Amino acid sequence: MLFAPGIPEDRLQHLRHHRRLRQALTHTGWKQERVVSEFWDGKILLILPDDPKFALRKAAEVLSVVDAELGFPEHSRIPGPHSRVSVYLFLSPAGRVLGCLAAHPIRQAYRLLPEPDPRDNSQDNSQDNSRDNSRDSLRAWRCSVQPEPAACGISRIWVLRAQRRRGIARRMLEALRRTFVFGAVLSFGDLAFSDPTADGRAFAARCCAR
Ligand code: ACO
Repeated sequence: MLFAPGIPEDRLQHLRHHRRLRQALTHTGWKQERVVSEFWDGKILLILPDDPKFALRKAAEVLSVVDAELGFPEHSRIPGPHSRVSVYLFLSPAGRVLGCLAAHPIRQAYRLLPEPDPRDNSQDNSQDNSRDNSRDSLRAWRCSVQPEPAACGISRIWVLRAQRRRGIARRMLEALRRTFVFGAVLSFGDLAFSDPTADGRAFAARCCAR
Protein backbone atom coordinates (compact mmCIF):
# COMPACT_ATOMS: atom_id res chain seq x y z
CA MET A 1 0.00 0.00 0.00
CA LEU A 2 1.54 3.33 -1.08
CA PHE A 3 0.85 6.47 0.87
CA ALA A 4 2.11 10.05 0.96
CA PRO A 5 2.54 11.11 4.62
CA GLY A 6 1.96 14.76 3.64
CA ILE A 7 -1.58 14.08 2.42
CA PRO A 8 -4.04 14.02 5.37
CA GLU A 9 -6.41 11.56 3.65
CA ASP A 10 -3.53 9.14 2.97
CA ARG A 11 -2.29 9.47 6.52
CA LEU A 12 -5.76 8.72 7.88
CA GLN A 13 -6.08 5.63 5.66
CA HIS A 14 -2.61 4.51 6.80
CA LEU A 15 -3.54 4.85 10.48
CA ARG A 16 -6.83 3.01 9.89
CA HIS A 17 -4.98 0.20 8.11
CA HIS A 18 -2.57 -0.22 11.04
CA ARG A 19 -5.35 -0.07 13.62
CA ARG A 20 -7.21 -2.81 11.74
CA LEU A 21 -4.07 -4.98 11.61
CA ARG A 22 -3.35 -4.43 15.30
CA GLN A 23 -6.92 -5.34 16.25
CA ALA A 24 -6.98 -8.42 14.03
CA LEU A 25 -3.69 -9.70 15.48
CA THR A 26 -4.63 -9.13 19.13
CA HIS A 27 -6.26 -11.86 21.16
CA THR A 28 -7.77 -10.76 24.45
CA GLY A 29 -8.38 -14.31 25.70
CA TRP A 30 -11.56 -16.33 26.21
CA LYS A 31 -12.81 -18.23 29.24
CA GLN A 32 -12.87 -21.52 27.36
CA GLU A 33 -10.19 -21.70 24.77
CA ARG A 34 -8.81 -24.88 23.27
CA VAL A 35 -5.08 -24.71 23.99
CA VAL A 36 -3.34 -27.60 22.22
CA SER A 37 0.31 -26.71 23.01
CA GLU A 38 2.10 -24.46 25.46
CA PHE A 39 5.65 -23.12 25.29
CA TRP A 40 7.77 -20.64 27.20
CA ASP A 41 7.23 -18.11 24.39
CA GLY A 42 3.57 -18.71 23.64
CA LYS A 43 0.76 -21.18 23.11
CA ILE A 44 -1.24 -22.67 20.27
CA LEU A 45 -5.00 -22.26 20.19
CA LEU A 46 -7.22 -24.45 18.01
CA ILE A 47 -10.48 -23.07 16.59
CA LEU A 48 -12.83 -25.70 15.13
CA PRO A 49 -15.68 -25.20 12.64
CA ASP A 50 -18.40 -25.69 15.28
CA ASP A 51 -16.92 -23.26 17.81
CA PRO A 52 -18.90 -20.23 19.04
CA LYS A 53 -19.27 -17.27 16.72
CA PHE A 54 -16.79 -15.06 18.58
CA ALA A 55 -14.03 -17.66 18.09
CA LEU A 56 -14.85 -18.08 14.38
CA ARG A 57 -14.90 -14.28 14.01
CA LYS A 58 -11.38 -14.06 15.47
CA ALA A 59 -10.16 -16.80 13.12
CA ALA A 60 -11.73 -14.99 10.14
CA GLU A 61 -10.11 -11.69 11.20
CA VAL A 62 -6.66 -13.27 11.35
CA LEU A 63 -7.20 -15.10 8.06
CA SER A 64 -8.16 -11.84 6.35
CA VAL A 65 -4.71 -10.45 7.29
CA VAL A 66 -3.01 -13.65 6.13
CA ASP A 67 -4.99 -13.78 2.86
CA ALA A 68 -4.13 -10.16 2.10
CA GLU A 69 -0.42 -10.96 2.52
CA LEU A 70 -0.61 -14.16 0.50
CA GLY A 71 -2.72 -12.55 -2.22
CA PHE A 72 -5.68 -14.92 -1.71
CA PRO A 73 -9.13 -13.67 -2.69
CA GLU A 74 -10.99 -12.30 0.33
CA HIS A 75 -12.93 -14.88 2.35
CA SER A 76 -11.75 -17.74 0.17
CA ARG A 77 -12.42 -20.17 3.02
CA ILE A 78 -14.24 -18.61 5.93
CA PRO A 79 -14.04 -20.73 9.09
CA GLY A 80 -17.46 -22.07 10.06
CA PRO A 81 -19.64 -25.19 10.21
CA HIS A 82 -19.83 -25.53 6.41
CA SER A 83 -16.18 -24.93 5.65
CA ARG A 84 -14.65 -27.73 7.80
CA VAL A 85 -11.60 -25.50 8.32
CA SER A 86 -9.58 -25.90 11.52
CA VAL A 87 -7.54 -22.85 12.46
CA TYR A 88 -4.45 -22.94 14.67
CA LEU A 89 -3.26 -19.63 16.15
CA PHE A 90 0.16 -19.22 17.74
CA LEU A 91 -0.22 -16.57 20.47
CA SER A 92 2.50 -14.74 22.36
CA PRO A 93 2.20 -14.49 26.16
CA ALA A 94 1.06 -10.88 25.61
CA GLY A 95 -1.83 -12.08 23.43
CA ARG A 96 -0.45 -11.19 20.01
CA VAL A 97 -1.17 -13.51 17.11
CA LEU A 98 2.28 -14.52 15.81
CA GLY A 99 1.25 -17.32 13.48
CA CYS A 100 -1.72 -18.96 11.85
CA LEU A 101 -2.36 -22.29 10.12
CA ALA A 102 -5.61 -23.24 8.39
CA ALA A 103 -6.29 -26.86 7.42
CA HIS A 104 -9.19 -28.94 6.15
CA PRO A 105 -9.79 -32.64 5.49
CA ILE A 106 -8.90 -33.93 2.03
CA ARG A 107 -8.73 -37.35 0.39
CA GLN A 108 -6.03 -36.90 -2.20
CA ALA A 109 -3.23 -34.59 -3.25
CA TYR A 110 -0.85 -34.14 -6.17
CA ARG A 111 2.87 -34.39 -5.45
CA LEU A 112 5.02 -31.42 -6.49
CA LEU A 113 7.67 -32.34 -9.03
CA PRO A 114 11.28 -31.19 -8.66
CA GLU A 115 12.02 -27.97 -10.51
CA PRO A 116 14.23 -28.41 -13.59
CA ASP A 117 17.78 -27.21 -13.01
CA PRO A 118 18.18 -23.95 -14.99
CA ARG A 119 21.82 -24.94 -15.73
CA ASP A 120 20.50 -27.86 -17.79
CA ASN A 121 19.09 -25.41 -20.30
CA SER A 122 21.55 -25.09 -23.18
CA GLN A 123 20.09 -21.67 -24.13
CA ASP A 124 20.82 -20.41 -20.64
CA ASN A 125 22.82 -17.23 -20.05
CA SER A 126 23.38 -14.95 -17.06
CA GLN A 127 20.57 -12.58 -18.08
CA ASP A 128 18.04 -15.43 -18.11
CA ASN A 129 19.33 -16.59 -14.74
CA SER A 130 18.67 -13.30 -13.01
CA ARG A 131 15.22 -13.14 -14.59
CA ASP A 132 14.52 -16.69 -13.34
CA ASN A 133 15.49 -15.74 -9.79
CA SER A 134 13.29 -12.66 -9.71
CA ARG A 135 10.40 -14.75 -11.03
CA ASP A 136 10.95 -17.54 -8.48
CA SER A 137 8.27 -16.44 -6.04
CA LEU A 138 5.72 -15.94 -8.87
CA ARG A 139 6.34 -19.30 -10.51
CA ALA A 140 3.56 -21.86 -10.84
CA TRP A 141 4.90 -25.20 -9.58
CA ARG A 142 4.65 -28.35 -11.64
CA CYS A 143 2.91 -31.26 -10.01
CA SER A 144 2.19 -34.87 -10.80
CA VAL A 145 -1.08 -35.73 -12.53
CA GLN A 146 -1.38 -38.88 -10.38
CA PRO A 147 -3.33 -38.27 -7.16
CA GLU A 148 -1.99 -39.77 -3.93
CA PRO A 149 -3.94 -40.39 -0.73
CA ALA A 150 -3.72 -37.57 1.84
CA ALA A 151 -5.73 -36.61 4.92
CA CYS A 152 -5.09 -32.96 5.63
CA GLY A 153 -4.81 -29.98 3.28
CA ILE A 154 -2.97 -26.94 4.62
CA SER A 155 -4.42 -23.96 2.79
CA ARG A 156 -2.50 -21.30 4.73
CA ILE A 157 0.51 -21.25 7.00
CA TRP A 158 1.80 -17.86 8.01
CA VAL A 159 4.08 -16.32 10.65
CA LEU A 160 4.43 -12.62 11.45
CA ARG A 161 7.47 -11.39 9.52
CA ALA A 162 9.49 -10.34 12.58
CA GLN A 163 8.93 -13.75 14.22
CA ARG A 164 10.03 -16.01 11.38
CA ARG A 165 12.73 -18.71 11.75
CA ARG A 166 11.94 -19.27 15.43
CA GLY A 167 10.19 -22.58 14.94
CA ILE A 168 6.67 -21.12 15.15
CA ALA A 169 5.44 -22.69 11.89
CA ARG A 170 7.08 -26.01 12.77
CA ARG A 171 5.34 -26.02 16.18
CA MET A 172 1.96 -25.27 14.57
CA LEU A 173 2.57 -28.16 12.15
CA GLU A 174 3.36 -30.50 15.06
CA ALA A 175 0.19 -29.40 16.87
CA LEU A 176 -1.80 -30.04 13.69
CA ARG A 177 -0.34 -33.53 13.29
CA ARG A 178 -1.30 -34.43 16.87
CA THR A 179 -4.78 -32.93 16.96
CA PHE A 180 -6.26 -32.80 13.44
CA VAL A 181 -7.65 -36.35 13.65
CA PHE A 182 -8.89 -37.41 17.07
CA GLY A 183 -6.80 -40.24 18.55
CA ALA A 184 -4.22 -40.37 15.74
CA VAL A 185 -0.98 -38.63 14.84
CA LEU A 186 -0.79 -37.75 11.16
CA SER A 187 2.39 -38.60 9.33
CA PHE A 188 4.05 -36.00 7.11
CA GLY A 189 2.85 -38.03 4.13
CA ASP A 190 -0.76 -37.33 5.17
CA LEU A 191 -0.24 -33.58 4.80
CA ALA A 192 -0.49 -31.52 1.62
CA PHE A 193 0.20 -27.80 1.14
CA SER A 194 -2.11 -26.15 -1.36
CA ASP A 195 -0.52 -23.88 -3.92
CA PRO A 196 2.54 -23.07 -1.79
CA THR A 197 4.56 -19.89 -2.09
CA ALA A 198 8.35 -20.17 -2.42
CA ASP A 199 8.61 -19.76 1.38
CA GLY A 200 5.88 -22.35 1.93
CA ARG A 201 7.57 -24.84 -0.36
CA ALA A 202 10.98 -24.38 1.31
CA PHE A 203 9.41 -24.73 4.75
CA ALA A 204 7.43 -27.86 3.78
CA ALA A 205 10.45 -29.46 2.12
CA ARG A 206 12.54 -28.81 5.25
CA CYS A 207 9.98 -29.97 7.81
CA CYS A 208 8.36 -32.86 5.98
CA ALA A 209 11.65 -34.41 4.85
CA ARG A 210 12.37 -35.60 8.42
N1 ACO B 1 13.45 -21.04 3.19
C1 ACO B 1 14.18 -22.13 3.60
N2 ACO B 1 13.94 -22.80 4.78
C2 ACO B 1 12.95 -22.32 5.55
C3 ACO B 1 12.15 -21.20 5.18
C4 ACO B 1 12.45 -20.54 3.94
N3 ACO B 1 11.74 -19.49 3.53
N4 ACO B 1 11.23 -20.97 6.15
C5 ACO B 1 11.45 -21.91 7.09
N5 ACO B 1 12.47 -22.72 6.72
C6 ACO B 1 13.02 -23.86 7.48
C7 ACO B 1 13.75 -23.35 8.70
O1 ACO B 1 15.10 -23.11 8.45
C8 ACO B 1 13.55 -24.47 9.68
O2 ACO B 1 14.49 -25.50 9.49
P1 ACO B 1 15.49 -25.93 10.71
O3 ACO B 1 14.59 -26.22 11.89
O4 ACO B 1 16.18 -27.13 10.18
O5 ACO B 1 16.33 -24.74 10.94
C9 ACO B 1 12.19 -25.07 9.31
O6 ACO B 1 11.93 -24.63 7.97
C10 ACO B 1 11.09 -24.58 10.24
O7 ACO B 1 11.07 -23.16 10.21
P2 ACO B 1 10.16 -22.29 11.14
O8 ACO B 1 11.02 -21.34 11.92
O9 ACO B 1 9.23 -23.14 11.91
O10 ACO B 1 9.33 -21.46 10.03
P3 ACO B 1 8.74 -19.99 10.23
O11 ACO B 1 8.13 -19.88 11.58
O12 ACO B 1 9.78 -19.01 9.85
O13 ACO B 1 7.56 -19.98 9.15
C11 ACO B 1 6.69 -19.67 6.95
C12 ACO B 1 7.74 -20.40 7.81
C13 ACO B 1 5.29 -19.95 7.51
C14 ACO B 1 6.74 -20.23 5.53
C15 ACO B 1 7.01 -18.15 6.98
O14 ACO B 1 8.22 -17.94 6.29
C16 ACO B 1 5.94 -17.26 6.36
O15 ACO B 1 4.95 -16.93 7.02
N6 ACO B 1 6.11 -16.85 5.10
C17 ACO B 1 5.19 -15.90 4.45
C18 ACO B 1 3.84 -16.54 4.20
C19 ACO B 1 3.96 -17.75 3.31
O16 ACO B 1 4.55 -17.68 2.23
N7 ACO B 1 3.38 -18.88 3.79
C20 ACO B 1 3.33 -20.11 3.06
C21 ACO B 1 2.19 -20.05 2.13
S1 ACO B 1 1.88 -21.59 1.32
C22 ACO B 1 0.57 -22.22 2.16
O17 ACO B 1 0.06 -21.56 3.03
C23 ACO B 1 0.05 -23.57 1.82
